[in-house]
This record gives sequence, structure tokens and C-alpha cells, in this order.
Amino acid sequence: MKFPKIMQTKLISAGRKNRYTQGSVNSVIQRASSLVFDSVEAKKDAAKHRTEGALYYGRRGTLTHFSLQDAMCELEGGAGCYLYPCGAAAVTNSILAFVKAGDHVLLSEGAYEPTHDFCDRILKDLDIETSYFPALIGEHITTYIKSNTKVLFLEAPSSITMEVHDIPAIVAAARKINPQIIIMIDNTWSAGVLFKALEYDIDISIQAGTKYLVGHSDAMIGTAVANARCWPQLRERSYLMGQMCDADTAYITARGLRTLAVRLMQHQKSSLKVAKWLAKHPKVEKVNHPALSSCEGYQFFRRDFLGYSGLFSFILTDRLSDAQLADFLDQFKLFSMAYSWGGFESLILAHQPEEIAQIRPVTGVNFDGTLIRLHIGLEDPDDLITDLESGLNRITLSKNKMSTL
Ligand SMILES: Cc1ncc(COP(=O)(O)O)c(C=O)c1O
Repeated sequence: MKFPKIMQTKLISAGRKNRYTQGSVNSVIQRASSLVFDSVEAKKDAAKHRTEGALYYGRRGTLTHFSLQDAMCELEGGAGCYLYPCGAAAVTNSILAFVKAGDHVLLSEGAYEPTHDFCDRILKDLDIETSYFPALIGEHITTYIKSNTKVLFLEAPSSITMEVHDIPAIVAAARKINPQIIIMIDNTWSAGVLFKALEYDIDISIQAGTKYLVGHSDAMIGTAVANARCWPQLRERSYLMGQMCDADTAYITARGLRTLAVRLMQHQKSSLKVAKWLAKHPKVEKVNHPALSSCEGYQFFRRDFLGYSGLFSFILTDRLSDAQLADFLDQFKLFSMAYSWGGFESLILAHQPEEIAQIRPVTGVNFDGTLIRLHIGLEDPDDLITDLESGLNRITLSKNKMSTL
């Protein structure tokens, strides 16, 4: 898939107004808690315009924050963008901004596990019920919607297993039952530019900017871009919850945007090459990469998304023992074992089927082999394939070793 040209140019210019850059190329880094008013009149004026870019108090943002917020609105087509200290804060505060005791939240079972945990533990204590729907539910989402369903929360592709929703079908069916339902998506995988959530009548597009926006695995930030209907409530409630990120992180994130297109194009090219290679490997049962028809929801991905990023998973033909897993994972030269993803480096993690089953409360899992999640970084993909080939060869070695014991 071809990276949208218009986005490539927009990523360079977004948020770089003269007011924010003040004569330099990038925005200024304005670190501030207190912002000083020259007169009583100036203070009054700042208070009046505090939600419209006036410098008022650090928690409302400084020029550095405004620059990033403007950029995100331009890129994702929103009325406003709230910044949070990490992606998890963006997820939880976006939900919290719209629910009260007695409400119901409908969450994709494929959502990021801590999103489940937040709903199951914290929302539960607040008397807010959560139920889960299978990622591939499509228009049958209607059977899950209740009279008190307030928030419908999507994530595509699903975390770890990578199923892709039929988003237009879900949104249309949900809105038909309740036009006011608040629809949110964790849009981290697409970096907000490969899936234009708000154009699909989704109200809020959430990202762990920690991943692709920052792009270098050295900062944490969350973003939530909202449409005009949801922006005032999201902004005021997130503000009341004390949410904000520091100016340096906002600056680093805005800087990340400038190289996002070239990074994503390389992540796409390399992840595709690696995924196709894995699909032919005899020890691989199935590759969950949205570019391949083996990925569930592949047809929806082809229709709705504008490109691929670097995160996908595959399932081995066998369930590896702890010893085999250690043998496999401990000796990679280029893949590091770490949480998170979206940086310039390649990462690997393994999940046993029963671990995934625990976080798929409706459908469970339909595979027996060990699942491996990869983030394909910016290294030469041929080097990554060599590293993976050695790893897969080690599985045979350790099996042989086991059988001779
Ligand atoms: C899909 C997704 N959403 C949200 C988050 C949370 O982001 P953060 O780690 O910045 O809180 C993550 C982190 O891995 C993620 O993978």
C-alpha cells in the first residue's frame, strides 16, 4: 500500500505556526507552570480564552503543547487534541470523561490488556459495567448494545492477535440504535495517519504516542483527538483529572512527526518482507499481518486502512516449552525482548495460547502453538530474517536435544 502523499507533506508542516516556532524551524520549548500576565485586563483576557490557545496556566498548556495539539488535529481531522502523560492515561481518561455510575462500556476483547484491566477493576468499583465483544462482530454489535451503553471502544488491529474490525459496519449499526453513543478507538497501531478514524464517524482517536509518534523509545505520551461534539467534555474532564504532559515530551513528539512518514514507509516495507518470509516457513502455522489474507479481518483492513506499520504476530506450529522458549528468545542478535513498540528497533515477545485466552473473554483462542509478536524496526529486513531463521532453527535444535534426553 502506498503511503498517502498528502500526509507526507502535512507531517512536515503540521503545527509549525510562527506563533509556536518564533523564527526557528521547530516549536520553542516553553517550560512553564506559571504564565505571567502584564495587567489585570491581560489576566481577564487569558481566562476568557484559556481553552482557545491563550497562555493561562501550565496545566492548560504552553506554546509547545499548542503546537503539537494543532498538529495532531490537522493530521487526524479533529476539533481538539488532549495530551496525557502516557497512552494508558489517554485511554482511561477518555473513557472516564464520558461515563458515570450505572453506565455500560462496550469494549473490544482484542483491546490492549490494561484497557481491560482498567474497565474490570476501576470502572467496576465506580459502578460502571463493562462487557466485551468479539473483534470481528461487525453489524451484530447491536446484540451487545444495552440501553445504558455509553461508550463503545474499538481497537484495530487487535493487540497481539491483530484481528481487524469491520469498523464502518460496527459504527453504522451502533449509531442506528443510539446516535449519541460515544465511539472511541485505540488507534496507536496506525499512528493516527494510516487509519483516519474521525472520517469513519468515530468520535475520539486515541494513541499511545509513546510508540510511533515519538518513534525512538525514549519518551511516553498519550494523545486523544476528538470531534467537535466530544472535544469540550473530553478537554474539561481531562483537565479536572489533572492530565497534562511536560513541554519537553510535547516537543520530542512533535519532532517525531517530522520523520513519521519515512519511518512508517520503512516499517511497512520491512514488516511485509519479514511477514511473507515467515508465512512460508515450515515451523510457522499462521501469520497475523494485516497485509496477508491469513490475518482475520484482512478484507476490512484492505478497504479502510492506508498502510501497514511494523507490529504483527505469528503462531508457531508447536507450543514451546519454557526451555525451548528460552533457547529461542535469549539468543537473538537484533531482536530485543521488551514491552512497547513503535521505535526504530526490532522487538520480540512470546505469548502462550492460554495467556491470550485469558484476555479474550468472549471467543478464547483458536490456536495451540506459541504466539510470537514482532515489532519490525528500521534495520535491514534481510538481517532481521537471518536472525529469525537462526531462532527458528534453534527450536529444532532444542527439540532434538529434548528427544535425546
Ligand atoms: C495499543 C496500545 N495502547 C495503549 C498503550 C499504552 O501506552 P503507554 O505505554 O504509553 O501507556 C499501549 C502500550 O503498549 C498499546 O500497545
